[in-house]
Amino acid sequence: MPESFFILSKDYLELASDEIIALSKMYDRFSKVKIISNLVIIQSKTSWNKIAKRASFVKVSGQILRKMSGLFLNEDNLEVLKNAKTFVCRIINLSSKQFNIPELESSMGDMISKFSHAKVELEDPDITIYLIFTDNENFFGFSKRIKEKTRPKKIKKYPHELDWKLTRVIINLIGLKEGETVCDPFCGTGTTLLEAESMGIHAIGLDFDEKMYEISKENLKVNGYKSKVFKSDFQELSKLSGKFDGIVTDLPYGRASKASEKPEEILKKFFSIMPRRKRMAIMYKKELDRNLKLNGLKKYEIYRHKSLTRTILIK
Ligand SMILES: C[S@@+](CC[C@H](N)C(=O)[O-])C[C@H]1O[C@@H](n2cnc3c(N)ncnc32)[C@H](O)[C@@H]1O
Repeated sequence: MPESFFILSKDYLELASDEIIALSKMYDRFSKVKIISNLVIIQSKTSWNKIAKRASFVKVSGQILRKMSGLFLNEDNLEVLKNAKTFVCRIINLSSKQFNIPELESSMGDMISKFSHAKVELEDPDITIYLIFTDNENFFGFSKRIKEKTRPKKIKKYPHELDWKLTRVIINLIGLKEGETVCDPFCGTGTTLLEAESMGIHAIGLDFDEKMYEISKENLKVNGYKSKVFKSDFQELSKLSGKFDGIVTDLPYGRASKASEKPEEILKKFFSIMPRRKRMAIMYKKELDRNLKLNGLKKYEIYRHKSLTRTILIK
């Protein structure tokens, strides 16, 4: 079974590794996962770039060719360079040892050049060969050049809007597949709708504020996206439940955006009407759930500044 590696940014490490796990299990429920600090190794029939394309916090990813005990390479390992014209070697040191990385990368490049017709090219090579050091094992892997993900355009912004990476990560955490539908009942500027549609997920948005409803529509239109937006209260959600597979939303905080009533009351009402069987990823200001019983649900806390820590709740 092929193995892939993902080096994650350390910004939100728990979210980032849970995202990779959720994506790999979504595509292949028999995937096996191993986590070594910010390195995630996945054994799965899904290719690394299918997972990497959707993930929010992956810095580098590729396929593992083999585990190595030393720094030993032979011709069999270099099959991947067969049709490549150019390559580069990259060392990723996650171990506690110190290496002279530029020197090692350059001597590895020289060594590989002897077995292969491909030439070293530092910028935009066909293949990148990776050597990843950890304290217990080393991995030898590669990635091919992949087209940069095109980001959806956002022509209208608003201070309360959510950062696209956090939005994307929570969509992925509930394992929504391409072709499924997400609903954001507090859609604001449409961040969830844009991220979802850019990953091939259909989306429905609700916002009670005329201005937000118009902004969302314009942001979708400029991308040629087809998600639906309704100017309505979030409670309309109960009438739509046959039309979506999961809910992803960021509830009002009581600052910057209009709210129909106190954010704490909105959160309480939201829990009372949310469809029980749907997957759900919601975000809200941490202290708003103090009177709610939320046993057994996965929670993350994201510190923003001294008066705002967000809770992400996954069901
Ligand atoms: C925190 S903002 C959402 C921001 C959004 N995630 C984005 O990236 O733009 C909360 C949104 O909830 C909307 N809202 C407040 N009360 C509502 C209600 N009762 N029904 C529907 N939307 C409501 C506000 O207009 C605001 O756009």
